[in-house]
Parts: sequence; structure tokens; C-alpha cells
Amino acid sequence: MITMKDIVLEGHPALEQVAEEVGMPPSNEDEQTLKQMLQFIKNSQDETIAEKYNLRAGVGLAAPQLGITKRMFAVHFEDLNGNVYSDGYYNPKIISHSVEKTFLSSGEGCLSVNREVPGYVPRYARITMTATNLAGEKVKLRLKGYAAVVYQHELDHLNGIMFYEHIDKQDPFNQPENATPCDLPAID
Ligand code: NI
Repeated sequence: MITMKDIVLEGHPALEQVAEEVGMPPSNEDEQTLKQMLQFIKNSQDETIAEKYNLRAGVGLAAPQLGITKRMFAVHFEDLNGNVYSDGYYNPKIISHSVEKTFLSSGEGCLSVNREVPGYVPRYARITMTATNLAGEKVKLRLKGYAAVVYQHELDHLNGIMFYEHIDKQDPFNQPENATPCDLPAID
């Protein structure tokens, strides 16, 4: 099983490069890795397991965070409306997005960043993403608000981008233009 020792931290080269497309259909190894990533996120939210293995709670994990520079990530969370997002994705791609932006008032966090980085991280308020999911199906997802933020955070990892690179250095709490906040606990 994946534990915190498997997760690489900011400054690691895998977090700073553009990850490679995953060959389709995925190899057994890639599929097992993605399944384990999803299981890790679930475990990190299970109080008993998280305490036993000392896991920091997260809602998403991208392969580069394991030092694997491939285009895949897993998420597991529920949005404010009770919609559950729990799957792994290969080769995700944003095919369209809103002009309007959003951000979390509490800022963002990351399992690869062991410090608080205060500030607003502007994200598109709505995105449409295509990918192949863990079941091997081609999917097209329309995401908004918190869910859109989480998916964009994970997708950024596949392009070597850390959340804090989006924060206004001069004025971290400057409300991004054309943006309204969406709220839920800070994400990882
Ligand atoms: Ni992250």
C-alpha cells in the first residue's frame, strides 16, 4: 500500500516536469498504480487507517507525486451537494472552461507540500474534462466549483505546476478578477 514515504515533496524533479501520456489500454502496472493511488486517498480519509499508518488526509493524488511522471491521477471526495467523485483517470484533458474563475477562501494545500502557503489560487469556475477512467471507459466530465478546483489542482501536477505558482506574490489575498469563492475544507 502507498504511505507518506512514497510521496515526493516540492523540489523533486517529477513535480516540475510535464508528465508522459499513458499508453492505452493501460499496462497492468499502470492500472495497479492508479488503483493504489485511489486506495491511498480513501485510506487517508479513514480515521482508523490514517492513524495507524500516519497518513495525512487528502482528496486527490497525481502520479508525479509518487515520482512517476505519467498522466494519471485519482480523486475521492464529496462536494457540497453530496455528489461523490471517486475514480482514477488516465490522460485527462480540459477541453473547455468558463471565463469565470473561482477559488477556495481557505487556500489550497498539497500532500507534496509540508507547509502552509497562504493565498488565493484562481481556478476556472467550470471545466469540461475528458479522460479514460479506471474502468477503461472514455468519460467526459462537467465540473464546477469545488470539484473543478480539485481536478485542476491534480491536472496541474501532470504539467509540473504547483498550486502556489498561481498565487499573486505581491498580494496573495487579492481577489482574482472575475471570480467568486467556492468553499469546502482545504484540499490536498
Ligand atoms: Ni497537490
